[in-house]
Amino acid sequence: MNSDRNKNRTLTSARKNKNDEFYTCLRDIENELKHYKPHFKGKVVYCNCDDPRVSNFFEYFAENFEVLGLKKLIASCYKNDDIDLFSNHDKEKAVYLVYEGDKNKNKIVDDEEIEVLPMKGDGDFRSDECIAILKEADIICTNPPFSLFREYVTHLMKYKKDFLIIGNQNAITYKDIFPLIQGNKLWLGVNNGAKEYVISEEFAKEFPNKVHRTDDGKSYTKMGNTCWFTNLDIKKRHEKLESYLYKEYNDADYPKYDNYDAINVNKTKEIPVNYGGAMGVPISFLDKYNPDEFEIVNANDIRVNDRVPQKPHGLIKDTDGTINGKPTYVRIVIKRR
Ligand SMILES: C[S@@+](CC[C@H](N)C(=O)[O-])C[C@H]1O[C@@H](n2cnc3c(N)ncnc32)[C@H](O)[C@@H]1O
Repeated sequence: MNSDRNKNRTLTSARKNKNDEFYTCLRDIENELKHYKPHFKGKVVYCNCDDPRVSNFFEYFAENFEVLGLKKLIASCYKNDDIDLFSNHDKEKAVYLVYEGDKNKNKIVDDEEIEVLPMKGDGDFRSDECIAILKEADIICTNPPFSLFREYVTHLMKYKKDFLIIGNQNAITYKDIFPLIQGNKLWLGVNNGAKEYVISEEFAKEFPNKVHRTDDGKSYTKMGNTCWFTNLDIKKRHEKLESYLYKEYNDADYPKYDNYDAINVNKTKEIPVNYGGAMGVPISFLDKYNPDEFEIVNANDIRVNDRVPQKPHGLIKDTDGTINGKPTYVRIVIKRR
């Protein structure tokens, strides 16, 4: 009876948070983290949305603790005090784990080297307990719940933390995220685009159409548009996009918007080599964005007249982004420096 009730609760929470319960593959973490190595030396890393035994973030940092030269690794579970399970969000309490390296020098992350400590609360990243750990940490690295992404980023900004996190590409267009990108306080990481994520068996049963493949007893879903978001500097951010551009500007291929003083560019690689004004480019431009070459303009600043409504997100979007009355996709406005 009781277990039925618990199961129902689990499924209800899975249904409610279906976009929150996908788990990052180790190879994706390794592929991204190799570009940030110098940032981690002597640092305290906190994974604050991570059931440690299921989270590959915890596994990656524990296994690479010495290689990265970390000082300390902390991970906290959300509404979960069983470190071997996916969070079912059916516990009122949580635990957190601390790892301070391979003390017995056997080159293995031993269970007895991982300290499991109880939390008074449920491990919500916004709780006082988690904030106390956050303050101690230098770099926050995780895949946070998608449904709380804006709040999560605002939280990290408030505490002035360095971070490397995963989020949906659509987050770029959020009114509280885009200004951070525009102000060069947040940018995309290296490997953006389609990725596989591990899903729990409950989730796979409840949403069979989301299962992309099953392998080694694990079910995977595929998401086409997830990105790494960070404020840690990376080499990619300084690579020259200009050297790949080849097209010359002409009126026919680059029409102006009806309501904004900018030309429309359909593909990043088609940014015209000889145009000095404002250009509306797809949001995927950010994958190639080098702030030394281009600046990101707030579309409100290039409205053709005051009757064009001010947009809280500062992008060319909705019906205002038309060309001869025909809507275009969402666009970021850029200008050459
Ligand atoms: C997208 S999953 C990713 C899990 C893990 N970080 C990974 O990458 O494999 C998001 C995780 O955030 C947890 N979560 C949801 N709400 C949370 C909250 N308010 N505070 C902390 N964690 C939360 C969920 O339980 C879930 O495990």
